[in-house]
Amino acid sequence: MEIIRQLDEKRDRARAGGGPQRVAAQHAKGKLTARERIDLLLDTGSFEEWDMFVEHRCSDFGMEKQKIPSDGVVTGYGTVNGRLVFVFSQDFTVFGGSLSEAHAEKICKIMDQALKVGAPVIGLNDSGGARIQEGVASLAGYAEVFQRNVMASGVVPQISLIMGPCAGGAVYSPAITDFIFMVKDSSYLFVTGPEVVKTVTHETVTAEELGGAVTHTGRSGVADLAFENDVEALLQLRRFLDFLPASNREKAPVRLTRDPAERLEPSLNTLIPANPNKPYDMRELLLKVVDDADFFEVAPSFAGNILTGFARMDGQTVGIVANQPLVLAGCLDIDSSRKAARFVRFCDCFNIPLLTFVDVPGFLPGTDQEFGGIIKHGAKLLYAYAECTVPKITVITRKAYGGAYDVMSSKHLRGDVNFAWPTAEIAVMGPKGAVEIIFRNDIGDPAKIADRTEEYRQKFANPFVAGHRGFIDDVIRPHATRRRICRSLNMLRDKKLENPWRKHGNIPL
Ligand code: HXC
Repeated sequence: MEIIRQLDEKRDRARAGGGPQRVAAQHAKGKLTARERIDLLLDTGSFEEWDMFVEHRCSDFGMEKQKIPSDGVVTGYGTVNGRLVFVFSQDFTVFGGSLSEAHAEKICKIMDQALKVGAPVIGLNDSGGARIQEGVASLAGYAEVFQRNVMASGVVPQISLIMGPCAGGAVYSPAITDFIFMVKDSSYLFVTGPEVVKTVTHETVTAEELGGAVTHTGRSGVADLAFENDVEALLQLRRFLDFLPASNREKAPVRLTRDPAERLEPSLNTLIPANPNKPYDMRELLLKVVDDADFFEVAPSFAGNILTGFARMDGQTVGIVANQPLVLAGCLDIDSSRKAARFVRFCDCFNIPLLTFVDVPGFLPGTDQEFGGIIKHGAKLLYAYAECTVPKITVITRKAYGGAYDVMSSKHLRGDVNFAWPTAEIAVMGPKGAVEIIFRNDIGDPAKIADRTEEYRQKFANPFVAGHRGFIDDVIRPHATRRRICRSLNMLRDKKLENPWRKHGNIPL
């Protein structure tokens, strides 16, 4: 039938994007096309495309003669392992994936729908930015997207995968989303590019150095994960989505496991070195405790002194925050506070219980930290823990000193279950520092100082002082950590806690 033939022809035109030459150029850069990416991300055959026939409405600079259906972005919905997600995928082969008014409308349409039905929004970004020929109409389009990003924040998970250029004000849409993943060597994010930087500050820097995946996952902390190529990024994104609920109205899906909830892990009994100044790998502990040693770490290359990520306990998703003694002795600093605070808030938005492992000697001292505002940044983590109402389970493995003890999901910040290992040391500070202050007059007498230090260690460097006051609920054997956590999570399954009504709090930003 003629009408069907016409439909097929129109569809074929849209699917061809910017044509074979531009598709070949995209492939030559090691990048997939917008539609190939969607095919890899979603379950086979599940994609329902919307707005394939949308075209731009610009008639300046000869644009009226250049119309490509879909207008540089492929949008719609589909499933990932059977669960609904909405997706937009910018098509660099069409006007460089640049954002026109119509292109923005397509993105807004799926965001609005995702909010109504309660499903994640995944953005695959690959764009030259504002469609230059459209001027302010394009800027308006960005702002419409930003507004929706903000309204969707905490309602449905939003994830950005940067797979090409993303520059100028365009970066602020991914910046508002919950997680940013990037592809190494083919993606970059910056507010002003290398040429502008050269003109203004006379610095010479490549796009990769200024805003590539390694820079943002290791240095700025803007992005959470860097992947080698498009395929790896998309497949890992599928794995990541499995941990998350579809919206703030749901709990994360439970995945059955053969790993018994009651499993004991004897090797944990000897994980903590006898010397309190010797580090150990907190990651090893996590892998031994969680289901099937499956830990999806978020932001592993940034602020390594704190670990954040998702795992499951007896099938149930948990968000894990853990001090890492291998880096800066596990101290809290500006970067680790910011990293963990945002993670805690994500978990709280989406009903994901929090599991906190504590081995923290305190806040990192120094002018860098003070001048950089550690007071405000540390307060973010404190605020995040204090505000959140999801189940909170804390395990103190070794040091829990000073303000950092309070911050790390302590009983006083409404920790539901607070455990300590027998090796825990919960006090205002470590024995050496404490003795040097309270027995200052004895400093010239090493024997006396050694006695005092030992006395302090006996008195305070243990979990029982906190135990006497009920600040920890039990001192547990390390090998039983998994079992105790699983039971606690089960007990907390129907936890209900509400904060007083307010428009919103005022987290120290
Ligand atoms: C219209 C654009 C475009 C844009 C690229 N193209 N960017 N068309 N508006 N913003 C088109 C090109 O004309 C070209 O068309 C095709 O896309 C591919 O671009 P190339 O330059 O050939 O590709 P490449 O060499 O890979 O370089 C990619 C690029 C470069 C680095 C992104 O295109 C570039 O610098 N573009 C301009 C970026 C920019 O200044 N954007 C505005 C930023 S301000 P043909 O027909 O030849 O294939 C901004 C503000 C947002 O975005 C504000 C939000 C509040």
